[in-house]
Amino acid sequence: THQWRGIIEEYRDRLPVSDSTPVVTLREGGTPLVPAQVLSERTGCEVHLKVEGANPTGSFKDRGMTMAITRAKEEGAKAVICASTGNTSASAAAYAVRAGMVCAVLVPQGKIALGKMGQALVHGAKILQVDGNFDDCLTLARGLSDNYPVSLVNSVNPVRIEGQKTAAFEIVDMLGDAPDIHVLPVGNAGNITAYWKGYTEYAADGVATRRPRMWGFQASGSAPIVRGEVVKDPSTIATAIRIGNPASWQYALAARDESGGSIDEVTDREILRAYRLLASQEGVFVEPASAASVAGLLKAAEQGKVDPGQRIVCTVTGNGLKDPDWAVAGAPQPVTVPVDAATAAERLGLA
Ligand code: F0G
Repeated sequence: THQWRGIIEEYRDRLPVSDSTPVVTLREGGTPLVPAQVLSERTGCEVHLKVEGANPTGSFKDRGMTMAITRAKEEGAKAVICASTGNTSASAAAYAVRAGMVCAVLVPQGKIALGKMGQALVHGAKILQVDGNFDDCLTLARGLSDNYPVSLVNSVNPVRIEGQKTAAFEIVDMLGDAPDIHVLPVGNAGNITAYWKGYTEYAADGVATRRPRMWGFQASGSAPIVRGEVVKDPSTIATAIRIGNPASWQYALAARDESGGSIDEVTDREILRAYRLLASQEGVFVEPASAASVAGLLKAAEQGKVDPGQRIVCTVTGNGLKDPDWAVAGAPQPVTVPVDAATAAERLGLA
């Protein structure tokens, strides 16, 4: 009879809502913080995974979206719009259904994972595939929301950040204090901004005694913050973070610098290696972009940048089922057997 109520009810006093706010929720948040045994052994640290793929639509976006759609509802909006590499649109589409709103979605043509497209479709969103990249989609979405009766629910909408900061609250509530290091993938840079805000608020109010160093990782082919310049034609297999001009760029730099952290890059090869390690050795199936955090931690450890004994949290941002192509690709095809126990036992190596 008692279940997690969603981030707005659980953290109501720390979010911009009033008693009369019509809360739109799928009971997002309250996600598992899973001890990572193999990563802890490899780094000599205490590593935890914040498994955001366990949210209702399979990514951390639901934390921001419950706030954004709730606010849009409160303001009387009939329609919302977002640009997306797939997860924001999946989340917006689902929450718009709950709110009885129309959801318009702009995605880069051919560059979003099938599972995410399926989510937007099944929730009845109006989808346009834009002949351009995510950055072009965001420019278009901003223009449309400025000139037409439709609310923008990308993370440039500050209430998205408010919702997403609750992941930091959950971690501190669970561990009793902030970790030493927090590692996460960086795309449009909303999430690193949100975590830093959450950790900062908890430290300011004395709920935590300190703030972690923030370590963000971009994909090498889409690493504008690392390069210090816009990437015109971003590329990476991690389509969720295929972004060349992050909207929250300045906030990401602030999180990095104020925390004494870093923003670095990982190659697609490193991302896929971490993706496979998480699935095959930790039992946690994430989408490729999510594995950028763990790839980054492993890279830093190999470079001798990780002092042992620290407490580290890696956010894994999205569920592996969203983009299963990478799980299937390169894996051996399962063999087919007749309905025969002896053959099955032999093929399974049991006999
Ligand atoms: N991981 C996943 C699975 C994502 O979907 C995203 C962003 C990120 C990491 C990066 O987070 O943008 O806050 O730095 N996805 C957005 C989208 C862009 O449209 O779904 P960020």
